[in-house]
Amino acid sequence: MSTVERPETAPPAPEAPLGVRQKLAALTVFHTGPADVARVAGPVALLTFRPRWLIPPYAMVTSTQGARDVLGRTDGAFDKQHIVHRESQAFGRNVFNLPHDPWVGRRRLLQPLFTRRHVATFAGHMAESAETLTAEWIGRETVDLDEQTRRLTLRVIGRSVFGLDLGERAEQLGPQVHVLLNWLTSRAQRPVRAPGRLPTPARRRMRGALAAVRAVIDEAIAAARADPDGDAELIHLLLQATDPDTGRPLTDEQIRDELFVFLIAGHDTTSTTLAYCLWALGRDRDLQDRMAGEVTALGGRRPRVDDLPALPLTTRVVHEALRICPPAPVIVRSAMRDAVVDGFRIRAGTQVMVGVYAMHHDPALWPDPERFDPDRFADLRLTGDDRWRYLPFGGGARSCVGDHFAMLEAALGLATVVGSARIDALDAEFPIALPFTLTAGGPVPARIDRR
Ligand code: HEM
Repeated sequence: MSTVERPETAPPAPEAPLGVRQKLAALTVFHTGPADVARVAGPVALLTFRPRWLIPPYAMVTSTQGARDVLGRTDGAFDKQHIVHRESQAFGRNVFNLPHDPWVGRRRLLQPLFTRRHVATFAGHMAESAETLTAEWIGRETVDLDEQTRRLTLRVIGRSVFGLDLGERAEQLGPQVHVLLNWLTSRAQRPVRAPGRLPTPARRRMRGALAAVRAVIDEAIAAARADPDGDAELIHLLLQATDPDTGRPLTDEQIRDELFVFLIAGHDTTSTTLAYCLWALGRDRDLQDRMAGEVTALGGRRPRVDDLPALPLTTRVVHEALRICPPAPVIVRSAMRDAVVDGFRIRAGTQVMVGVYAMHHDPALWPDPERFDPDRFADLRLTGDDRWRYLPFGGGARSCVGDHFAMLEAALGLATVVGSARIDALDAEFPIALPFTLTAGGPVPARIDRR
């Protein structure tokens, strides 16, 4: 932290010299917006609007020191009180959206469930599901990598998180999740919103989707209670977990709200990462063959969690996809008090956006940043201050609790597909969209043959 104790002595962050339209664009185009602001105003810049009493000021942060000053604090000075966190409480209060004080105990309770050891027990479903789907893809005229990786991650979440074989219901769950995310994004992006409880058509659709998703989760919890030896490892762990301070277990409602966020946080993010990896490999035959080589060296069997140390290139491909196409392109916080960010004063009440995508594409931090080059991670040690330039899973206390899970899933899924199939991505561009996280913005066609 820089001079945090004395923000009154720090100069105020400069206002970005942009018109209202450009400022609004910077706020809604999450990936390139912060970089556009940084170009004209530097790595910490304000975007203010009128009337000030109605619309809070925003600050764009795109330096490693700034990211650290915002995300690295542990005292709740930059809290999850942004509109997106408050509005998402319509889906339940959970570790993702709780403000700092109630969050501390919840995170302490959940963290042990996501250690490498535990995650290994529920991430193993990935290879099996990936194998089944790859066999379906081989020989089809074209395969939409976006659609198919979404199917894959929903199946895996169904098995690993809910202990359910969602079968065809997985296909229905995807659109419901999107209704919820679209509702949240459109609420969060409007400077002025209809009161939350007003029964607008959008709200009715959101309630319907929420009820459908919750019904699946409730079924999974009931099934896990009825069968303590069943498959739902994560739910069993949640049922047994107790608050380290009070010794109390979670209620069924709290478990449901946590499972809900695991579904939402772990679906589009992991599927986009896989789709991007497959697309990038599908444009670079040499790289793909090199990666396939390390998978076939396993001896032709299905990759397992403990194979990952023998798959360094596979892991680097996932890292590079997360750099170029980070599913969370910005991370938002609210300044709860005056604070210093990279030497500048940020006032209490400012909505702070840390530009992860902007930093991942900054040529000063990553040489030739638009080139997909997994080997850049070969000798890279992202330790100390350096780690703040690579933030696909966020940074600091509120970084992703599912990061090991996601990395295991993505690497295992990728190794399984590339070990048995050859991918030709048919389009030179990977289309992107920003419904909430950064996702594929349209079909990603590929031709898939047996290897
Ligand atoms: C490639 C996949 C994933 C990416 C890129 C990703 C990214 C992120 C990021 C950037 C954050 C920090 C958000 C912030 O600071 O505001 C986060 C938080 C979180 N993620 Fe992930 N995530 C992924 C997969 C998952 C999975 C699989 C799960 C659960 C099973 C998960 C659960 C969560 C939760 C619960 C939080 C909130 C943590 C807290 O505030 O304490 N994520 N994720």
